Amino acid sequence: VIDIGKLYRDTGCFTYDPGFTSTANCSSGITFIDGDKGELLYRGYSIDELAENSNFLAICYLLLHGELPTNEEFKTFRNTISRHTMVHEQMTKFFTGFRRDGHPMAIMVGVVGALSAFYHDSTDINDPEQRQTASYRMIAKMPTIAAMAYKYSIGQPFIYPRNDLDYTSNFLQMCFSVPCEPYIVNPVVARALDRIFILHADHEQNASTSTVRLAGSSGANPFACIAAGIACLWGPAHGGANEAALNMLEEIGTVDRIPEYIEKAKDKSSGFRLMGFGHRVYKNYDPRAKVMQKTCHEVLDALDKRNEPLLKVAMELERIALEDEYFVQKKLYPNIDFYSGITLRAIGFPVSMFTVLFAVARTVGWIAQWKEMIEDPEQKIGRPRQLYIGPPRRPFPKA
Ligand code: ACO
Repeated sequence: VIDIGKLYRDTGCFTYDPGFTSTANCSSGITFIDGDKGELLYRGYSIDELAENSNFLAICYLLLHGELPTNEEFKTFRNTISRHTMVHEQMTKFFTGFRRDGHPMAIMVGVVGALSAFYHDSTDINDPEQRQTASYRMIAKMPTIAAMAYKYSIGQPFIYPRNDLDYTSNFLQMCFSVPCEPYIVNPVVARALDRIFILHADHEQNASTSTVRLAGSSGANPFACIAAGIACLWGPAHGGANEAALNMLEEIGTVDRIPEYIEKAKDKSSGFRLMGFGHRVYKNYDPRAKVMQKTCHEVLDALDKRNEPLLKVAMELERIALEDEYFVQKKLYPNIDFYSGITLRAIGFPVSMFTVLFAVARTVGWIAQWKEMIEDPEQKIGRPRQLYIGPPRRPFPKA
């Protein structure tokens, strides 16, 4: 590891690294990825063990506090989060200000950003207690806001949080209940969505997390920083990829058309990529994709949708791509987004909500990373350099 900051101070040299492919912007003790091995750890615990044995709220505690909670700590944490699930009644007006057909991610950017106006005075980022309260508020309110965005988009009344349910079951009921017909939460679906949340909870310095850190490095209000993260997550090269992957599988439609799409993806001039394939860091199978594939099968079995034609297309596409020289050589494997769209659609979410669900889960990662940054004595305002390629100094033209 070279300390480029020192190199710059001593010599004036700096690195040119578009996309930060080889530049660490911070040190962090939250998440570890070994891209060559295909390994992901949260605070030292492997993602597959956590997905199998824990629950999303316990993972929130782990990411924020560094250790898994004891039973007592979990109970207290759960109660505290439950106390913060409501949003100010005035916030409903924000939703109704948006066009009905606005993308729910656009609504999320606006409404989550607006939280900074509601909690500005009680969010002194230099006060550890207020930082913690802001973190808890964010984790608690995100599912409520996401469910409200969904309800608004389908013209149904907002459903209030139910604190007797666990985090994920409560989210499902806020999305799918209607006042005259309470929604019975299917435990297999709730467990599957909880696991999907665990898989998405953090992923070290990805684009949206780096955005949150960069915004937060100036001392900005954390709710506004999370809104910046949501905006970044929306793009199809990042969180929007699950939506794009499902659209692609639908466009392929049948197994016999797969070779045509494989060839198109290999032809750079086509501008087409296999969505849900490839990753900046993983040069092996994304460990989250393995858990996601298993979860997809469980959900389809539980909902009696095991003959879902898109699953057949996805599995065959994966098989063919993993035997193709192009994908082997470039180390392109399915990523977390490849199977998540099929799973989420089977649960009942429309495609436009996929990235919103990602945002709900990633909120804890964003806020844990924001908190870690604020508490880091080495923390400085983020300020990348540039390689100037414009004209050299020249005189202003005289009339
Ligand atoms: N299909 C076809 N070719 C691909 C794909 C793909 N999905 N992904 C990368 N490649 C090729 C590129 O054309 C490039 O070829 P070259 O070396 O001949 O120029 C090579 O593989 C490396 O690609 P880069 O774009 O340089 O890799 P980078 O690390 O910048 O990109 C990314 C990673 C954005 C994820 C890319 O693989 C991609 O666009 N995948 C599809 C979108 C996707 O699934 N995104 C989700 C990522 S996971 C997440 O955000 C949760």
